[in-house]
Amino acid sequence: MKISQVKAVFYSATGNTKKVVLAIAERAAGKLGVPVEAYDFSNPAKRAEQQYGPDELVIFGTPVYAGRIPNKMLPIVQGLFKGNGALAVPVVTFGNRSFDNGLIELRNELENNGFHTIAGAAFAAQHAFSDKLACGRPDAQDMEKLTDFADSVADKVTSLTEIPAPVAVKGTEPIDKYYTPLGTDGKPAVFLKAKPKTKDTCINCKACVRACPMASIDKEDPSLVSGVCIKCQACVKTCPKHAKYFDDPAFLSHVAMLEQTYTRPAESETFL
Ligand SMILES: Cc1cc2nc3c(=O)[nH]c(=O)nc-3n(C[C@H](O)[C@H](O)[C@H](O)COP(=O)(O)O)c2cc1C
Repeated sequence: MKISQVKAVFYSATGNTKKVVLAIAERAAGKLGVPVEAYDFSNPAKRAEQQYGPDELVIFGTPVYAGRIPNKMLPIVQGLFKGNGALAVPVVTFGNRSFDNGLIELRNELENNGFHTIAGAAFAAQHAFSDKLACGRPDAQDMEKLTDFADSVADKVTSLTEIPAPVAVKGTEPIDKYYTPLGTDGKPAVFLKAKPKTKDTCINCKACVRACPMASIDKEDPSLVSGVCIKCQACVKTCPKHAKYFDDPAFLSHVAMLEQTYTRPAESETFL
């Protein structure tokens, strides 16, 4: 099948998904000898309907939150992207616990939106909550896997003579409930309402305002979080003064439980 462009499309609050999706897109585009264009829908101000066509290959990525596509991004994934017969590769990143049903859900949403999924991947990446979980990943081994995967995607595109069945990926259908975060006591850790706090090292540079994918941080006073917080950690990671932090006890207990439990390196997995 002949395509004329690769599109790298992603939501990425702390940069892992962006890194993985761009690397796959650039490698596959290089092999196919076509240009790459990126579209980052993390920034709410830049969200607008995107139309694709049958001569395009779309590498589409989101992180896994609570075992699925981040719930506040789901309506955006469902509403903004029209495949019109484009080929697509769903890609998720996850922070060393599990990607559960995140990849299969993304595959299904892309198929529902008029894309034809031809491959899929789940890459382990440093957890947004803790640098003790999948620290430094994607690492050299992940990047090697990613390169092989992108090459196989390009080969598959070239050899396709007709639209294949949706790619088979890991996950259970019907899609389960979201994963329930647990605390160190093994009981559900309820931190839905937790919001970041601000230290007095804040210099009001508004980097956090620009980084928040929910546009929830007050423009005048960035210590105020007036909208919904999805705990993505974009503000925490982007602050040049390390002024943003979470101190919610249930949230911290969940992070401690993850650090205690998910010490083994999770495997990155590809599906073709
Ligand atoms: C709210 C939230 C929920 C998460 N849930 C999971 C999860 O269920 N399983 C897992 O392995 N990692 C989980 N993670 C880790 C992210 O999937 C991982 O850090 C991802 O690479 C972040 O992508 P980004 O850097 O593109 O934002 C979660 C992270 C956040 C912020």
